[in-house]
Amino acid sequence: MSFAVEKIRADFPLLSRKINNKPLVYLDSAASAQKPQVVIDSEMNFYRQQCAAVHRGIHTLSAEATEAMEKVRQKVAEFINAPMKENIVFVKGTTEGINLVANSYGRHFLKPGDNIIITEMEHHANIVPWQLLAKERGINIKVWHLIKDSGELDINQLANLIDERTRLLAITHISNVLGTINPISDIVTKARALAKKELVVLVDGAQAIMHQPVDVQALDCDFYVFSGHKLYAPTGIGILYGKSELLKKMPPWEGGGSMIDKVSLTKETTFAGAPGRFEAGSPNTAGIIGLGAAIEYVSALKLTEIQRYEQSLMDYALEKLKQVPNLIIYGREKNRAGVIAFNLGSHHSSDVGCFLDCHGIAIRTGQHCAMPLMEFYQVSTMCRASIALYNTHEEVDQLVRQLKYINTIL
Ligand code: ALA
Repeated sequence: MSFAVEKIRADFPLLSRKINNKPLVYLDSAASAQKPQVVIDSEMNFYRQQCAAVHRGIHTLSAEATEAMEKVRQKVAEFINAPMKENIVFVKGTTEGINLVANSYGRHFLKPGDNIIITEMEHHANIVPWQLLAKERGINIKVWHLIKDSGELDINQLANLIDERTRLLAITHISNVLGTINPISDIVTKARALAKKELVVLVDGAQAIMHQPVDVQALDCDFYVFSGHKLYAPTGIGILYGKSELLKKMPPWEGGGSMIDKVSLTKETTFAGAPGRFEAGSPNTAGIIGLGAAIEYVSALKLTEIQRYEQSLMDYALEKLKQVPNLIIYGREKNRAGVIAFNLGSHHSSDVGCFLDCHGIAIRTGQHCAMPLMEFYQVSTMCRASIALYNTHEEVDQLVRQLKYINTIL
């Protein structure tokens, strides 16, 4: 069965917009993906039909909203093959999920002198929370550097990095700049074999969740985080998956309503179990409902089919982009997904991005929240085109055509 991309495009109302009088070519889904009508409708229907505070009321609307939200928790668990819905914590997005782990697990279980490993290809969201924790707690950060020529991680380096004080490894599943798919399962196995004590692995799945099926039990990671808005869901909703034994022993991070068991002014306040303990305050219920609709949407299309289609588009784009004179493409050819970062000769990425925007083509430019990676490649910025399930070969052709044109006029 071929992938019905034109039919799929019709599900996304924004894709029919014109930008600067040109049909939109949206190649920035790695920053934020567009939303299908079913997701937009689900959020709107919540406000029209079910809007009420969850977990707080006996009345019908509150009970319905609570049930709808908890159904999505179950749906997310099934989507990533988590053992139970209690493994799923609703957060604002990937960034908040990582901060939660750093502030709860990290602050409580890591001791001065321990160390955390991060890689040179991480997004700032998987660097800065660890740096803040390290500074506060006297923890050391070790960097898993990339191989000079290929920009890849060498798994054998783990033996040089992991010692008796290594307690946490934080790694991206797919690089938001290079598109590199890291072999998480092999990395987890190797890291655990080398570790002398409990070593937990947190995987940043922000760039992976929309491109391939994710099975957290097969990966065997301890934490997996992702954002809804890159998975065609609304903004402001994300997921932290955690293994039960970890979530159960982790203390709360934020305090407030919903996350408690008993609150007292004279005795010690006690807390709810996981995941409620990590969900203080009123959640983004509409966003959660929208996330459920997005998961249903991609599940109906099948992640394996999406992956197959996007892979063929990625291969096509790499082949075509190689024909653009003066274009430097970053990252390897094989085993990559989602994004292609490049520079065009000595043109600043902002100039390239502005020019493309004039022709209706949206790409991301700048440092991509990955300054250490810019340093690795010794560039100040890059352009980045990213692909999603609704992009077409013709859109790639348009990008290539305009890049070639820039070469002739700038
Ligand atoms: N993290 C998003 C990106 O890489 C915003 O574009």
